[in-house]
Amino acid sequence: MDESLLLVTGLSKSFGGIKAVNNASIEVKTNSITGLIGPNGAGKTTLFNLISRFIEPDRGQVTFAGKSLDQLQSHQVSRSGCVRTFQVAKVLSRLSVMENMLLAAPKQLGEDFLQVWFKRDEIRRQERENREQAMRILEDIGLASKVNDYAGVLSGGQRKLLEIGRALMSSPKLILLDEPAAGVNPTLIAQICEHIIRWNRQGISFLIVEHNMDVIMSLCDYVWVMAEGTNLADGKPAEIQNNSKVLEAYLGGPDE
Ligand SMILES: Nc1ncnc2c1ncn2[C@@H]1O[C@H](COP(=O)(O)OP(=O)(O)O)[C@@H](O)[C@H]1O
Ligand SMILES: [Mg+2]
Repeated sequence: MDESLLLVTGLSKSFGGIKAVNNASIEVKTNSITGLIGPNGAGKTTLFNLISRFIEPDRGQVTFAGKSLDQLQSHQVSRSGCVRTFQVAKVLSRLSVMENMLLAAPKQLGEDFLQVWFKRDEIRRQERENREQAMRILEDIGLASKVNDYAGVLSGGQRKLLEIGRALMSSPKLILLDEPAAGVNPTLIAQICEHIIRWNRQGISFLIVEHNMDVIMSLCDYVWVMAEGTNLADGKPAEIQNNSKVLEAYLGGPDE
């Protein structure tokens, strides 16, 4: 339980003159649900972009499951078991829910022209397996009845769920969730939280960026707080709730 799964050390990234992330360090323990909070503009999404290698840091290291991610490309990071979702869900509106799921499948022999030619049976088998896995996940997240609908007709909350479903396609060890409750109705928020707790019991760890403090306080074992690109505080949820520096950062920070 106390083993480190994700270790971020001294990460920095500037955009022009803005130090979006400035010497930030965080840790996610194996099997934990860890929170990452901070006022708007604190650098949380940029930190996710750096960990998942959508962008390269100026400085700092990221270790996941004992291996350095520093030289990897983003698809290699997700293949290693560290997947992320986006603050604004990136589902493809003009594809069906099933097609969105299949695009996230890690094993896709059919992409390679020569493989298509020589391994038709194996490709069919793999496509069938991917479809079956997608269907199991859609049933799990309550989207099975939408399997053939365009993703564009889903509600905000259902899009968030579909994104998490896509993340689950690669059998991850860690999922980075960027504001899973934003724009989601309270009933669906409660369902998403129940899912997260259940998946966590099945061995998936989570790093969750979220402004909804009820979600953070009820889900998280441990919380990291960022402000102005860097570490402000960290501790158990109850410690964070009573930390005067954290309160100040929220009250004095940029408007929501
Ligand atoms: N691609 C970018 N180009 C320029 N500035 C950026 C870019 N991405 C983020 N920033 C800036 O970096 C800071 C941190 O942003 P962000 O990581 O989105 O914060 P958070 O997710 O905590 O709200 C903000 O000042 C933001 O405007
Ligand atoms: Mg953000």
